[in-house]
Amino acid sequence: MSFPALRPRRLRATKAIRDLVAETKLEPSDFILPIFVKEGIDKPEPIEAMPGQYRYPVGEHLVRFVREALEVGIKAVLLFGYPRDRDEKGLVATRREGVVQEAVRLLRREFGDELVIFTDVCICNYTVHGHCGIPVRRRKGPVEITIVDNDSTLEVIAKMAVSHAEAGADFVAPSGMMDGMIRAIREALDREGFTDVGIMSYAVKYASGFYGPFREALHSAPRFGDRRSYQMDPRNAAEALKEARLDVEEGADILMVKPALAYLDVISLVKEAFPDYPLAAYNVSGEYSMVKAAAEKGWIDERIVTLEILTAIKRAGADIIITYHAIDAAKWLREGL
Ligand code: PBG
Ligand code: ZN
Repeated sequence: MSFPALRPRRLRATKAIRDLVAETKLEPSDFILPIFVKEGIDKPEPIEAMPGQYRYPVGEHLVRFVREALEVGIKAVLLFGYPRDRDEKGLVATRREGVVQEAVRLLRREFGDELVIFTDVCICNYTVHGHCGIPVRRRKGPVEITIVDNDSTLEVIAKMAVSHAEAGADFVAPSGMMDGMIRAIREALDREGFTDVGIMSYAVKYASGFYGPFREALHSAPRFGDRRSYQMDPRNAAEALKEARLDVEEGADILMVKPALAYLDVISLVKEAFPDYPLAAYNVSGEYSMVKAAAEKGWIDERIVTLEILTAIKRAGADIIITYHAIDAAKWLREGL
């Protein structure tokens, strides 16, 4: 036998062979497309920090954008709202005529059950302070401090989730990292008769610098302090299993790890620990904009890098990828790698 006898390169010789033996297959139906809907505008507004992304009014442009996604094989959207007014407790987020609620009704009327509609459930983009929970003053011995109150927030997000279910959402997606949020929402949905509406939990969400462009998109950056008292510390991985386990026990249907790219190890851990739950990974705004910026400068190839990143997220263990690149990636996949 000649040397070398074992030649792994045989499996890489042609594109057809590579396609045949590929271990990871990325498909447009793996993607959820996040969409920003804004109250009080009449045409799409470009988001400066996220080239190619827009805030949409509830109307024809939104319908066209979603139709484009469906046409390239994407099945699902995740809606974020930008309200006209904000308040202290995020109660504006529970309005029947809120921007997300109206968007859900429009898309459901237009697309029926062909479209899976997820809605983000959190108050940071509906409050004047920009926190994912309600800030309150608390006595701590001799001093007074401000904390983000867990339990009063649960009441608001439970109402918000019910209003999204009433509008016709398939899944609500709580993203505020409040303890007990899944149980609070599950109980409220069940009590109101929405036993068929599911919950995709942002179970494992880190306090990350990669959310920067998103906070510009929704003007939802915290006006004081930061989110580290509720979002996870990037130094922790085992803690992700605790967060995921609690959400499973509380009734989550789909788990999520967020961000994706700097947390591939965590995606892999969570998938291994909960193989019987669909796992989503959120390829967040900063990950998107980083690629866009470098591509604009001509330093990387956007198509190759994007598909490489999305493939890596799937290879790590994600079943579902939430990505702003969804439509482009779906088109590129159709053209073939
Ligand atoms: C807020 C929320 C954030 C994202 C989704 N929901 C940002 C944050 O926690 O500050 C980030 C999404 C992205 O960066 O693409 N609850
Ligand atoms: Zn939030």
